[in-house]
Amino acid sequence: MIILGIESSCDDTSVALLDITDKEIKILAERTASQIEIHKKYGGVVPEIAGRLHAEKITPLIETVHELTQIKKPDVIAVTSGPGLITGLLVGIESAKTLSYLWNVPIVSVNHIEGHIYSPFINNDTIFPLPTSHFPLLALIASGGHSEIILSTEERKYERVGGTKDDAAGECFDKVAKLLGFDYPGGPKISKFAETGDPQAIKFPRPMIDSDNFDFSFSGLKTSALYWLRDHKLSAMKINPINLIAGIFGVQKEEVTINDFCASFEQAIVDLLVSKTLKAVKKYQPKTVILGGGVSANKKLRETLGSEIKLQSPNSLFLIPFSLYSMDNAAMIAVAAYTHAKNKNFTQHHFFSSKKSSAGFTNWKNLQANPNWKIAH
Ligand code: KG4
Ligand code: ZN
Repeated sequence: MIILGIESSCDDTSVALLDITDKEIKILAERTASQIEIHKKYGGVVPEIAGRLHAEKITPLIETVHELTQIKKPDVIAVTSGPGLITGLLVGIESAKTLSYLWNVPIVSVNHIEGHIYSPFINNDTIFPLPTSHFPLLALIASGGHSEIILSTEERKYERVGGTKDDAAGECFDKVAKLLGFDYPGGPKISKFAETGDPQAIKFPRPMIDSDNFDFSFSGLKTSALYWLRDHKLSAMKINPINLIAGIFGVQKEEVTINDFCASFEQAIVDLLVSKTLKAVKKYQPKTVILGGGVSANKKLRETLGSEIKLQSPNSLFLIPFSLYSMDNAAMIAVAAYTHAKNKNFTQHHFFSSKKSSAGFTNWKNLQANPNWKIAH
């Protein structure tokens, strides 16, 4: 099945054409335009600017992907309808509607979180065929906009078992990075500095870590980081390798470096995410555990969750996306759409005759952006 994926829910305009069967996912062409360089100046994503940039980029990207493959038209158009920024979602949706009308091709309206859940299946070692054998599946999706633990007992069926009560994990990384003077998005920079820091140097709180549920909270941690920076000074460099001459430069051995701060802060986020995910793993005994979303690019999180699952739930298969597919991308949207489209009848009658959406497909007339679309309650 040839699927055209369209993603524009945040700050990446992404278009991909995939050939998907139960046995294999082939990426025929994909193009993503990142807006990071523009939003950097403002310290975060500015919705109005994001909308304008998506509108500028989307048609050229569709054209390029089309030209690269020379495929006349896909079998299905997959588009992110939510959750996300309304200014971005509308651009993807209007493009999908127009193409659906012009090409007479059905649309699958995809939840962005569902896309992240399917992102690890895009790889070269074909863990594919897609899921039937992978359920129950438990996913931790952590990004700039979301941090949720989702249980899926069968294809297209989702239950939210836990998640953040306030900020998303990526948002917390980005806000604290801003306090340190790092450009947006600060998550990758914090984790880079953390590599050579001491994760025990500062005892940051782990809000809700002992609560009797699968929820976590990051706003207290963020505030605690803010107060720590207000009340202390960071030394710019690690002096351990030159212990003997510590003091000569006015730097005391016990001073906390920026690397230590980043490592301690990162450790607190990783501890929170890992402990609640493991708690859910113990309760639901999933066959597959998935880590997805932008924060899944974090090395410490990948390694810690991976090794803990190996230890505590050795029968669960732990899947993470290639770094490229941790970030927002259209390929994962196409893969998620495949699970909705694969058993459906593609006749024109099936998707254009009814005013309502037929299961799996949405008539272009009914397609709407839903910035707060919850994958499950
Ligand atoms: O999924 P994504 O591309 O966009 C949203 O849907 O939000 O995630 C972007 C988020 C940003 O908050 C970014 O700082 C975070 O993912 N991120 C990281 C790392 N790489 C990206 N956070 C921590 N460590 C990383 N290595
Ligand atoms: Zn995302």
